[in-house]
Amino acid sequence: MENKNIAERTERTRWFTEARFGMFIHWGLYAIPARGEWVRSTERMSHEDYLPYFNEFDAAGYRPREWARLAKKAGMKYAVLTAKHHDGFCLWDTKLTDFKAPNTPAGRDLVQEYLDAFRAEGIRVGLYFSIIDWRHPDFPHFRDRQHPHRDDPDYGNENRDFNRYLEFMHGQIRELLTQYGKLDIMWFDFSYGDMAGEKWRASDLMKMVRSLQPHLIVDNRLEGSGENSGTILTANPSGYAGDFACPEQMIPPQGIRNDMGEPVPWEACITLNNHWGYCAADHHWKPADMVIRMLVECVSKNGNLLLNVGPDAKGRIPPSSVEILEALGRWMEDNGGSIYGCGMADLAKPEWGRFTQRGNILYAHLYEPQAGGVCLSHLAGRIEKMRLLADGSEILPANYWNLAEYREHAFFFLNPQSFDNYPLPDPVDTVVEITLKQEP
Ligand code: GLC
Repeated sequence: MENKNIAERTERTRWFTEARFGMFIHWGLYAIPARGEWVRSTERMSHEDYLPYFNEFDAAGYRPREWARLAKKAGMKYAVLTAKHHDGFCLWDTKLTDFKAPNTPAGRDLVQEYLDAFRAEGIRVGLYFSIIDWRHPDFPHFRDRQHPHRDDPDYGNENRDFNRYLEFMHGQIRELLTQYGKLDIMWFDFSYGDMAGEKWRASDLMKMVRSLQPHLIVDNRLEGSGENSGTILTANPSGYAGDFACPEQMIPPQGIRNDMGEPVPWEACITLNNHWGYCAADHHWKPADMVIRMLVECVSKNGNLLLNVGPDAKGRIPPSSVEILEALGRWMEDNGGSIYGCGMADLAKPEWGRFTQRGNILYAHLYEPQAGGVCLSHLAGRIEKMRLLADGSEILPANYWNLAEYREHAFFFLNPQSFDNYPLPDPVDTVVEITLKQEP
């Protein structure tokens, strides 16, 4: 009998596994030092040294509607914005701390504007919430794994009241769940060592989440992190195992299944350069071609791609990121049908690229030009019709003399006049839509 948590998870994540493609947005004070969102930790920066950025943060170029239009153009169906990252800076008008955007020169609630903009573009909205808070006095400092003062005995933990921190943390999450309308995703980050599960009072937290926004989906980092997925990989996930796993900066080789072999919803979160938060010196941008194939790979393994942008100190998405996302959008305009609502095909990965599938519609993603016919292994007799997805042009099955000894397979030529498949119409990924005969 299917575990109740799994049955409910499947229902809750139906839109998510259809959407397949989202925008991650890491933006906050750390965009001013512009050395990544962990700058306080990596540079062991005191709160006092970090405060000038708070006093300077003006969001002068923050136009979330432009962000939303770019996401839409790229074919993204949902977005997740860092409402609060590990530094404890809150982009919304929380009543539980002064360390928030309305108290900076920005002078306003930046989360509300993000939600309004993305909803206006018909994009589902999520918030990232760091369960770690390096700013809060009751969060462990000395000897913590990554706190900016982890090496500083002057920041001992004797007088820190972790329960008081949990009241604060749960209270902030309640604010987000009750004051900003219907949210689609809450993206918690992250657990480590004994700072996991009930240490966060995760059962109480999830009871609150499920009662306030029962449709909301949650990642698995109340238990896990990018290093371990937690009980979502088991047949009996805990009440706070989350609705999807979130491998980080990698795509799982076989996708993700639980220990019963059942598919687990998952989303690979990946940066466009090598930083989540804005890093001025990091020009190591993934080319659009690579990003297209990352997205196809995720979907071919029943997963989603959450692709990150790190806006700069003013709130502008870096031009290099814009260029990549616009190129992605051009490919998605022609080929989005092979992504949305698709997943793993029940076929072996072909030598020349990948498959994605939705019902009886199989998509062949051709990466490599083929000297002869493109081989569709063991699909002889199973194909009703084939079309080039981009322009809808007919592709005929090939039954030529040189294929006579391989009749168990199906073949096609993109260029039937020249019996070949080069050059590919789209050298990055030429997609052929194959309608399979419905099994009797
Ligand atoms: C890791 C990073 C964090 C980032 C997250 C995104 O947890 O530490 O900075 O927000 O990955 O998945």
